[in-house]
Amino acid sequence: MHFEHHMLREIKEQPAVLAALAKRGQLLLEKDGGGLFGFDDPEGASFQRILFLSCGSSYHASLAGKWMVETFAGLCCQVEYAHEYRLSPPLPLENCLVVGLSQSGETLDTLEAMRKAKQAGARILSICNVANSTAISLAHTAFLLEAGPEKAVASTKVVSAQLAAVFLLALRLGIAHGRLPQEFVQKHVQNLMDIPNQLSTVLQNDSFSKEVALALHEAKQLLIVGKGLAYAIALEGALKLKETCYLHAEAFAGGEFRHGPMALVEPTVPTLLLMPSLPQESFELMQGTAREIRERAGPLWVLTQKRPETLGEADAQLYFLPQADAFLSTFLFLAPLQTLAYHLAHGRGLNVDSPRGLCKAVVADP
Ligand code: AGP
Repeated sequence: MHFEHHMLREIKEQPAVLAALAKRGQLLLEKDGGGLFGFDDPEGASFQRILFLSCGSSYHASLAGKWMVETFAGLCCQVEYAHEYRLSPPLPLENCLVVGLSQSGETLDTLEAMRKAKQAGARILSICNVANSTAISLAHTAFLLEAGPEKAVASTKVVSAQLAAVFLLALRLGIAHGRLPQEFVQKHVQNLMDIPNQLSTVLQNDSFSKEVALALHEAKQLLIVGKGLAYAIALEGALKLKETCYLHAEAFAGGEFRHGPMALVEPTVPTLLLMPSLPQESFELMQGTAREIRERAGPLWVLTQKRPETLGEADAQLYFLPQADAFLSTFLFLAPLQTLAYHLAHGRGLNVDSPRGLCKAVVADP
């Protein structure tokens, strides 16, 4: 009988999960955003700042959310590890929407951080995949991801669902603040609706993850570099490789790589560059990073949507993804990293669905 790991099945479920969320996104075109996030336009307009509180993969989705909220809503947005926020000085949070982002809704740090933010006067929104979770019960309002149960400890489909949710939230806040014309919202919802098909194509033609997993079979380390939204995806990819493959994969922001980490590059240390073609400026800067890595003879893989001019045929192994807008490309870049983690863990004979020493939700202090 053929056995499929939960992790692989959940990765493959992503197009369907995103299609369902994109459909819900159409509510944004209705009055008050069809009640999608539980606030009307006047209340949405009262939020002057946004604070995401989360841990692990949910934190990475929050970082992507920050880019989206700042772009679409023009609001100052902060992202804090929930465990750090718990210990931070208690500052007032009036006119602030706090988003507790949590797959399980039971992560103790996130719950405690949400409670603290509530006390400080914030409006609390829980974005969560589990109905009846503690996070939803303590929040003022909630958005249920409806991605279906996720059994593998390593979160995959729920991270994608979180990314779609924060994308919709950013649009919702932009509408409430009167910044986004109806046609703009329509176009972005349509863009999200196009992603499931593109993602299915990416998952079907996935030579990247199989080839790179084979090449990394004996590897001890991997550097992953991305800029902007691709940095959030680099962090998430590195976490997947750490938790499922026990590989020391480390993510760096493109610009930061030159401020020290570049010294790690040598012929035995491979680097993976995430290079979405948009924004153009980021792509160009990453081309420079690619050149500098090759000058140090570092082995290089590049996941991209466009050939970098600074790399010759022999300089790097290039893998191409379909074109999409700067925000929605995040889904297309994330999936190959998830499947890479899956294939590498499987190839190493590891327990893919239940990595050593980890559990699905961290519900107590150490
Ligand atoms: C994800 O693959 C991890 N297992 C882990 O980082 C997780 O995202 C983190 O513990 C937060 O969990 P939550 O989303 O349920 O709050």
